[in-house]
Amino acid sequence: MRIAVLGGGRSSEHDVSIASAASVADAIDPSLHEVIRVTIARDGAWTSDGHPVALVPAGGDLARLVRLDGGESADVDLVFPVLHGPWGEDGTVQGLCETVGVPYVGADVAASATGMDKALFHVLATAAGIPRVETVVILHAQWQADPAAVRDEVANTCGYPAFAKPARLGSSFGISPVPTADDLDAALELAFAHDDKALVERRALGREVEVGLLGNAEPHASPLGEILHDADWYDHDAKYEPGGMRLAVPADVPPAVQERARELAVAAWNAIGCSGLARVDFFLEGDQLYVSEINTIPGFTDTSVWGRLMAGDGFAYPDLVQQLIELATDRHAAKAAYRG
Ligand SMILES: Nc1ncnc2c1ncn2[C@@H]1O[C@H](COP(=O)(O)OP(=O)(O)O)[C@@H](O)[C@H]1O
Ligand SMILES: [Mg+2]
Repeated sequence: MRIAVLGGGRSSEHDVSIASAASVADAIDPSLHEVIRVTIARDGAWTSDGHPVALVPAGGDLARLVRLDGGESADVDLVFPVLHGPWGEDGTVQGLCETVGVPYVGADVAASATGMDKALFHVLATAAGIPRVETVVILHAQWQADPAAVRDEVANTCGYPAFAKPARLGSSFGISPVPTADDLDAALELAFAHDDKALVERRALGREVEVGLLGNAEPHASPLGEILHDADWYDHDAKYEPGGMRLAVPADVPPAVQERARELAVAAWNAIGCSGLARVDFFLEGDQLYVSEINTIPGFTDTSVWGRLMAGDGFAYPDLVQQLIELATDRHAAKAAYRG
């Protein structure tokens, strides 16, 4: 197969995505597939090998990567988006692939969109009976129109300490702890610098644990891993600075908590209708698990948490990449059976 690996992207998570995409491209078996690396610049321009390109339909299940400078175009059998955050993990690039008709790795349009949007995920998870910390969703317009009402709602629903965050971002951008009511305005202003929708959540006081998932209809759930760090919270530096965090796999928790976490991870997967891969993050307070979020394109280098969680079950990184390619092909074929 000829596979286009997409990296970069317009979101704040551009650099993280460049690293993830390079790892994926390097891990694709060259005896099985030909890789075309496509970089999406921060301004949205697509290039491959420095040449401007665009992805267009070529009929059937093929996409064509057209050289916009007149060079030779290439037909592509599969797209592997390794993009984090808005315009990549949120259903938009997935929608492009659907429009073009080409198979692509990972969650489909609706699952990507609802996985990316923490407010929509909160609604779906709650409807599915998945435990979540107390949460208030706030639109920027609402905050501007009546901040006093928002302050009251936060105080009554979440209380303090809390956390404020933009609805659709990742890598801890725009997120801050809100120790007291006096800190709410600044925290919301920061969140609203990134998105017109924000969440305030009760601050969970406890541990952070994560489960990796791989599959389509019946995903395989990895052992539970625990994120260990010395920071006050799992901020950008703790995530990405060398030595900023340690991952303990399996997490040192009772077997019942392990089992419950894997069940809840699959429940979160089903709540958004996920496919391919995901990482589900939890807060653990005592023995009580709360699902924090689902990431449909989690950090994806061979040393990222998702890869290491799956490695805990004996999956080597290149095998994971090959499995994702096969899952994408399977999902595409399964969908084609429905006429639409
Ligand atoms: N309600 C909360 N309680 C405790 N810590 C939180 C809460 N929300 C976020 N955090 C901290 O902020 C980090 C990033 O928040 P998260 O919602 O996972 O956003 P991102 O998508 O950027 O990873 C979490 O890993 C955790 O350390
Ligand atoms: Mg997170």
